[in-house]
Amino acid sequence: MSTVLIKGGRVITAADDYVADVFVENGRISLIGGSLDVDARVIDASGKYLLPGGIDPHTHLDMPFGGTVTVDDVESGQTAAAFGGTTCHVDFVIQPQGETFASALDQWKSKAEGKQVIDMGYHMAITDLHEGGTLEELASLPDQGVTSYKLFMAYKGALMVDDETLFRSMQVAAESGALVMVHAENGDAIDVLVKEALAAGHTEPHYHALTRPPETEGEATNRAIQLARVAGAPLYVVHVSCAEAVEPIAIAREKGWNVHGETCTQYFFVDYTFLERPNFEGAKYVYTPPPRDKANQDVLWNAVRTDVLSAISTDHCAFLWDGQKSLGKDDFSKIPNGGPGLENRLHMIHEFGVRAGRISLNRMVELLSTNPAKLFGLYPRKGTIAVGSDADIVVFDPERKHTISAATHHSKIDYNLYEGTEVTGSPEVVLLRGNVLVENDELVASPGVGQFVARAKFGQELRAKAAVA
Ligand code: URP
Ligand code: ZN
Ligand code: ZN
Repeated sequence: MSTVLIKGGRVITAADDYVADVFVENGRISLIGGSLDVDARVIDASGKYLLPGGIDPHTHLDMPFGGTVTVDDVESGQTAAAFGGTTCHVDFVIQPQGETFASALDQWKSKAEGKQVIDMGYHMAITDLHEGGTLEELASLPDQGVTSYKLFMAYKGALMVDDETLFRSMQVAAESGALVMVHAENGDAIDVLVKEALAAGHTEPHYHALTRPPETEGEATNRAIQLARVAGAPLYVVHVSCAEAVEPIAIAREKGWNVHGETCTQYFFVDYTFLERPNFEGAKYVYTPPPRDKANQDVLWNAVRTDVLSAISTDHCAFLWDGQKSLGKDDFSKIPNGGPGLENRLHMIHEFGVRAGRISLNRMVELLSTNPAKLFGLYPRKGTIAVGSDADIVVFDPERKHTISAATHHSKIDYNLYEGTEVTGSPEVVLLRGNVLVENDELVASPGVGQFVARAKFGQELRAKAAVA
């Protein structure tokens, strides 16, 4: 395999910030130092940041949901990710009702075959412990590198599980070394509110938010925290959107409980009023939990700054506005829930987090790469720039202007949540295990370069055993 020398970049990790040359051999970082003189292809990174490749712990590619299938498959979603400086993600396998986890995993792996542009792992979303998977089978997943279980406390009649299933899964996780992830909303209460709204003739997109008040997120978050505590399982609350959910996480962490939370890029920028946009444009912002009142945005910035929340994901779950969101033209509850964002997380958080003075560069790296790596069993193989780590590196130009738009992104989606936003700072070269993926605004690697990563159990480290291809 070829060698690469990245010269003179400013290496930014969660802890460090220094100028160095980085030498890559066999897909890994083999040497970091000043003025390295080795025979290799040279990438000049002077004036640029060298960031560890982004890790997005929450995506939905090629996923059936809401009566349709997400528009981005593995190839288009991962291509978009690569352009945005994300070199690894963890996607959700959804257990089809009545089927085993093995069958679900096989289905998801076949969706990825030959299409992978970046590395990926899987979470297992448990939907059925009655007719489908068994507790024994669930317990076996971490040994196959699937080291996180996801449970939906909402989407009644579709993905939602009851508290018994949630609690039993937590008990298994406590023994098997898996991290339990929850979509925390009270699905029963929401189901009542949705039925009442529709009966009253309220069909427009903004009723999506009015029928999912923040208290339903706060209640479920607290319920999951308390149940995880009884079961003795580690817990990760996905897509935290509001003060009502931040508070119980803050309390749990203050007490030293094994509780972690993420928010997503969109919750910092899109508020409830976007749902009220006329001519069905509000449907673009129908994702769950819904965009909240603007006051929550400061709460979330504060939570990521102070380590109440540990990660920022995208929850990329893209549906075309024209043709998919339109399934709910006359009934907000039929609008497929989900939004895009895989390509623009680094752009947006660098611009409005770092450049706006809300978080440091180190904290940005921690939130977008290092913490997801640590929480999801990828560290230190991924999530940092260090000797022995995979050479997943973003050469980031902090002066490069970029306009975020559906016209410039690489997803198949027909709109962008941040349409027209101008940022200063953008990835210039993106490497995955030493392979250049993106250069000169082109994808230069072929699909198939990405790999499945068998992740370590919660709390354990992942180290590459042999030279990687
Ligand atoms: O609206 C969303 N977030 N769709 C994806 C599924 C989920 O709840 O994460
Ligand atoms: Zn969710
Ligand atoms: Zn999601």
